[in-house]
Amino acid sequence: MAYQLEVVDLHALPPAHEVLSEKEQAFYEGLKIQKRKTEWLGGRLALKKLLCTHLGGKLADYAVLTPGGVGKPTVTAGGKEIKLPFSITHSNGYAAAVLAPKARYVGIDLEKIAPRIAAWKNDFFHPSELTEDTDEFLTSLWTQKEALVKLLGSGLTINSLDVRVVGGKPQLLGRALEIYRGLGEPQITLETRPLLPGFCLSVAVGK
Ligand SMILES: CC(C)(COP(=O)(O)OP(=O)(O)OC[C@H]1O[C@@H](n2cnc3c(N)ncnc32)[C@H](O)[C@@H]1OP(=O)(O)O)[C@@H](O)C(=O)NCCC(=O)NCCS
Repeated sequence: MAYQLEVVDLHALPPAHEVLSEKEQAFYEGLKIQKRKTEWLGGRLALKKLLCTHLGGKLADYAVLTPGGVGKPTVTAGGKEIKLPFSITHSNGYAAAVLAPKARYVGIDLEKIAPRIAAWKNDFFHPSELTEDTDEFLTSLWTQKEALVKLLGSGLTINSLDVRVVGGKPQLLGRALEIYRGLGEPQITLETRPLLPGFCLSVAVGK
């Protein structure tokens, strides 16, 4: 798959002013919960490292902000939007970002492998997806689903049962299928990588 990935340890972050643009610093200072601040900063550090490698410049030259406060962020530099497919995730002490300059869309999700209760399985998965019952399989399935809803740009505002992963392949129904058609029906590939021990990290790329 043609994408670049960056993972950062949230326990070893540089000072915010070294990472964030002025506008981002104003938003960051307004965040009330320390965990959210750390994750928000870490996700930006991961993405900006990739942007600096790909496009040059310094971390603080880029601004990764969400217009309206909810949903998918955009990246700007010098006031102009940079239209490269990217995605951010954070989980249990880590943040990660993906940049996929050769693709049209991308989504990423990182989750710690943990036991799941039956109600969670039944609420979020269609029986056709549940081909195994290990913690690792269910966590990886969940990360694939979240990577897909991020690729679509909807997040979990859509029904999770409309985004299925059966045998490693996406199946989209209902609202998810409508959004997919609106994006021009990209060819989606899913990959789950054992990058960090005890975690699942999935990337969905749409070409
Ligand atoms: C997007 C969503 C699937 C993220 O899942 P999560 O496991 O909670 O969080 P992750 O750490 O994996 O990902 C968070 C990142 O996803 C990205 N993201 C958020 N909404 C997104 C969307 N609609 N599409 C793509 N990416 C999105 C952001 O970069 C966010 O990180 P940031 O806020 O630090 O920039 C989930 O938050 C969601 O569906 N939200 C929609 C519902 C909603 O908007 N609720 C807000 C009510 S106030």
